[in-house]
Amino acid sequence: MASHRVIDNPLLRFQEDRQKARDANDPMAAVCVLASVDGNGLPQARTLVLRDIAQGLAIYINASSPKWQQVQDVIAIQTWWPSLQVQYRMQARCEELPATHIAQSWQLRPDAPKHLDWLYEQNAQGSAVENREDLLAQLDTAPRPEPLVAPPGARGLVLLPQSIERLDLNQANGVHERCRYTLHADQWTVTTLIP
Ligand SMILES: Cc1cc2nc3c(=O)[nH]c(=O)nc-3n(C[C@H](O)[C@H](O)[C@H](O)COP(=O)(O)O)c2cc1C
Repeated sequence: MASHRVIDNPLLRFQEDRQKARDANDPMAAVCVLASVDGNGLPQARTLVLRDIAQGLAIYINASSPKWQQVQDVIAIQTWWPSLQVQYRMQARCEELPATHIAQSWQLRPDAPKHLDWLYEQNAQGSAVENREDLLAQLDTAPRPEPLVAPPGARGLVLLPQSIERLDLNQANGVHERCRYTLHADQWTVTTLIP
């Protein structure tokens, strides 16, 4: 019979593992894959930078992208760190970051993404252009303020994980270690799963 053990916040384990991946110069340590269901009910997935902020894990996306509508409630993200042979899968509630936070963090973006964020105010991220030359011309001519500030469409979400699954392939006997952490009434429990 399956048993559930009460444990501390598994995000600490996630952060410890992530730090080990960073220490090993694992390029995947910086990113996650965000899954969503689009307006046609079809699955979509894309790579995003996974940020550490004071409130926890966060992602930054533009509200002009269709994904903004798809991530308003619960999202799924996945990370895979080859240096550790560890995968995490999470389901998380999302809370939008306040505009004051975005205004500050947006300033750290390089110029090209800043200019793109202003272009999205006219033409949504993911909309079609004639060709790359047309895109570069639009980037040059799209109105943007001086000095540059974050446009209204620049958004961010803090992730509040509800369920976290860890799969560790790095086992001497070849049997992967898989467990699922679940949050109920502010308490995390862990369950061992067949890998
Ligand atoms: C390494 C890497 C990091 C990325 N980071 C972000 C990010 O932080 N935010 C973002 O909106 N898109 C990011 N992207 C681009 C997305 O994967 C995706 O192409 C883009 O957001 C458009 O997705 P959409 O069609 O769902 O709107 C990143 C892509 C790569 C390869």
